[in-house]
Amino acid sequence: MSTRKLKKPEELRSHRWYGVKDLRSFGHRSRTAQMGYTRQDYAGKPVIAIINTWSDINPCHGHFRQRAEEVKRGVWQAGGFPVEMPAMSLSEPFQKPTTMLYRNLLAMETEELLRSYPADACVLMGGCDKTTPALLMGAISMNLPTIFLPAGPMLRGDYQGNYLGSGSDTWKYWAELRAGNITESDWRNIENGIARSPGHCMTMGTASTMTSATEALGLSLSGFASIPASDSRHSQMASMTGRRIVEMAWEDLKPSDILTRASFDNAMSTVLALAGSTNSVVHMIAVSRRAGFPLTLDHIDALARKVPVLANLRPAGEYLMEDFYYAGGLRALLKQLSPLLDLTQQTVDGKSLGELISEAKVFKPEVIRSLDNPLVASDSLAILKGNLAPDGAVIKPPAAESHLLKHTGKAVVFKNYDDLSARIDDPQLDVDKDSVIVLQNAGPLGAPGMPEWGQLPIPQKLLKQGVRDMVRISDARMSGTSYGACVLHVAPESYVGGPLALVRDGDLIELDVPARKLNVLISDAEMTKRKQTWQAPLKKFDRGFGKMYSAHVLQADQGCDFDFLETSHQEQSGTDPEIH
Ligand code: FES
Repeated sequence: MSTRKLKKPEELRSHRWYGVKDLRSFGHRSRTAQMGYTRQDYAGKPVIAIINTWSDINPCHGHFRQRAEEVKRGVWQAGGFPVEMPAMSLSEPFQKPTTMLYRNLLAMETEELLRSYPADACVLMGGCDKTTPALLMGAISMNLPTIFLPAGPMLRGDYQGNYLGSGSDTWKYWAELRAGNITESDWRNIENGIARSPGHCMTMGTASTMTSATEALGLSLSGFASIPASDSRHSQMASMTGRRIVEMAWEDLKPSDILTRASFDNAMSTVLALAGSTNSVVHMIAVSRRAGFPLTLDHIDALARKVPVLANLRPAGEYLMEDFYYAGGLRALLKQLSPLLDLTQQTVDGKSLGELISEAKVFKPEVIRSLDNPLVASDSLAILKGNLAPDGAVIKPPAAESHLLKHTGKAVVFKNYDDLSARIDDPQLDVDKDSVIVLQNAGPLGAPGMPEWGQLPIPQKLLKQGVRDMVRISDARMSGTSYGACVLHVAPESYVGGPLALVRDGDLIELDVPARKLNVLISDAEMTKRKQTWQAPLKKFDRGFGKMYSAHVLQADQGCDFDFLETSHQEQSGTDPEIH
């Protein structure tokens, strides 16, 4: 039972729309009546906004219309008034050039929906990659009582009796197809079996990473991030979320009451113990800056040096999210990790993290390992710096062939993605297994939107020789389901004249992950000379959202939020509208 002082009905935010006696409130009530509700349905009750990112073109959220009804059932049961509000979906497989271009737009939409309508509290429905950080960023800035409802992973993929993992097995079998090791018919069978239910990617990609981080932050009900989307317990979770958010509206339990510097450390440590997606670095920085507790690349690297990988999940390990759930799920992993967590942190459950995981158990130790038997001892992510990335770059060492983690090779440079596509498989390309493939102009402004191009393809002639990994460097991101010795998020990006723009074919590049170094082996004088002759690329946008994006997006090391959206709960984070 919460010890928080409960709000009175006239203290609810929605009271200003519904409860006062004036002309405008007549309009609000009469238009609510137009929707078939009577005063008994809503008078004196908290209005619960259900921000639903369902779309016909988002397969990861295919079950969200039903889940929204289940949330509403819980809201009604607990004495609230549910109002579903659709928001843009950010469908990872379909939206071009990348959903990342629109993450901040969904964050803005979320914040402004909550601000402009009579919401007392909200349930955020997301899961497909960028939807989770976007919804969190908007809701944290608005700071109403909030629960995030995760979409849940889809079922394991199936191909000839083998389990397939989202993304990871796509990249793997695509390389085998290009190498001539599987047939077009095999490839079609994989196409039909790799995604066979609603839900987000079921590897430890960006979706699973970010929903798990959200639960570790304390913003989802405990144990819910791991439930497969098509499991009946996922429906139960939805109605429980509906019931709990009504209580939170009365308790006025807001993100600013839950989020702390320590809760962000808990979330980032969880990401590292899961060997989570490199994308989470950008997203967690952005989310943390909205809450006023900014994570930095250096701090993330310091955490990475001490947090071991406990989850044996693809792409770093062997199993899939369905296995993880049956093994005990995130609660069991957090229990294993608890010596490295701050268990006093509060959550939307109204309890501390420690109370919530006290009885969690591991049922399959091969899937969720212990601190004394980790999958990898440390460094599930590493932050690199050097003259090629003065503001930092990211690599996922467990996803790379280990002999490449300390490597010097000659650069083979592509000036943009079209150049890469046109030349990578050219038999005349001067490249061998020791070369370092470099892609320029794929960052937040250069691509634009920092797409997931960073798992640069291995040249076909090397694939045929059996090469499956090489050092690859770009200012792009890569899918959380990807693998390889891919150095990502190089900052500042090449489009703004970062050193990556100055690399030329044949330059020696030195990668040293244990020493956290990334350098191009040219003199400072040569670097300066090249910088003086560098020409800024043409502008990408003359109008529309793209123009606003270009004017305001921050670099990767700062989370790629818009400069004018960052908030701090130590300050005023937003203003409520006048109700006229
Ligand atoms: Fe939606 Fe991977 S495509 S989570």
